[in-house]
Amino acid sequence: MGCSVSETQKLIMLPGPTNVPPRVMRAMLKPLIGHRGPEFKQVMAQVLGKTKKVFETKKDLYILTTSGTGATECALQNITDDGDKIIVNVCGFFSERLAEAVKNYGGTPITINSEWGKAPRTEDFRKALKANPDAKAVAVVYNETSTGVTVRSLQEIGKLCADQNVLLMVDAISILGGDKLPVDDWNVDLCVTASQKCLMCPPGLAFVTVSQKAWEKIESKKHHRSFYLDLPMYRKFMETGYTPFTPAVSLFYALNEACDMILEEGLQARYERHRICAEAVYNSMEALGLDLMAEPESRSHTVAAIACPDGIDDAKLRELIRVKYGIDLGGSLEKWKGKMFRIGVMGSVGSPEIMSTVAAIASASHDLGFKANISEALEAARKTLSRLPARMN
Ligand SMILES: Cc1ncc(COP(=O)(O)O)c(C=O)c1O
Repeated sequence: MGCSVSETQKLIMLPGPTNVPPRVMRAMLKPLIGHRGPEFKQVMAQVLGKTKKVFETKKDLYILTTSGTGATECALQNITDDGDKIIVNVCGFFSERLAEAVKNYGGTPITINSEWGKAPRTEDFRKALKANPDAKAVAVVYNETSTGVTVRSLQEIGKLCADQNVLLMVDAISILGGDKLPVDDWNVDLCVTASQKCLMCPPGLAFVTVSQKAWEKIESKKHHRSFYLDLPMYRKFMETGYTPFTPAVSLFYALNEACDMILEEGLQARYERHRICAEAVYNSMEALGLDLMAEPESRSHTVAAIACPDGIDDAKLRELIRVKYGIDLGGSLEKWKGKMFRIGVMGSVGSPEIMSTVAAIASASHDLGFKANISEALEAARKTLSRLPARMN
């Protein structure tokens, strides 16, 4: 076997799925229960209460047994009538996909295009809304996972949408739980995320919040094309404490435990930990001699996008790191194919994970012939990480 480390030792520094803490893994060993019985109703009530705290919302929240795209589909399909204009920021692979998805649901995407590595500005949304006063919604990928860019003006965009009575749908798949997103305070009508990223659960659950304003649009919609993802059906079943279809019960146990860990740490402390860990990655990669792909003011605290050493393809670098050091890193997509790699800074990360990752990247790029400043990179990471409080347990 070409692998020098066992599967159990693998460190997953992907932009999802991420490392799942043993406490969360153990929670899934609880005996299975029927999803129409009183025990599940109790689990659902607990999980919902905790998840709403993580989303900072008092609005409706639904937990779907799908990947993140299922929740995006659920949010958009339930609010889109044929021909509805939806303003979408396009600045990378996932936001391009979102605009494509709008078309599939019968909507007309009005795109705000930014260069890869840059975020759209509030002004871009203001102009798009002015030019399209009949737009029904704005859809924003808060954290563009392909480029490591966060839309830092989301709060302002939310205010703009609220003032103009336009719905705001946010794809927070690669950020919720790792950076600030108070759903109610920021006027987000539909917020979507998935279990396998900053919520540090295995893949399989996705989430969608629904505001009163969103319900009004959903109720006025002429045809509900989806059956599995029909929000009115979810609401009807949720009134009795259940889901319309068989939920991934074991993942609900995992989520319950993960939410406990998140709330024990505290949201603000958690965001600060992600910020410091991301900064340690950025500082160390620059010290190593590598360029950063995202503009400084929009650099994500949950996904770091790093340029490859000159002449070294990311697949080759990542393969060496995977085989020799047992660390999985994210690859490059589309326009940036072969030119960069991505480091997930999500969920259960601290000094051990970041120092190991930096050391592995430094060694592997040296092995491939890059003149890497290894000791400077390690020192930059160590120094930045020294600002972390005691390790989360
Ligand atoms: C921003 C964003 N949107 C959508 C998706 C798709 O999520 P999933 O693969 O869980 O369906 C991802 C996955 O990485 C993502 O990062």
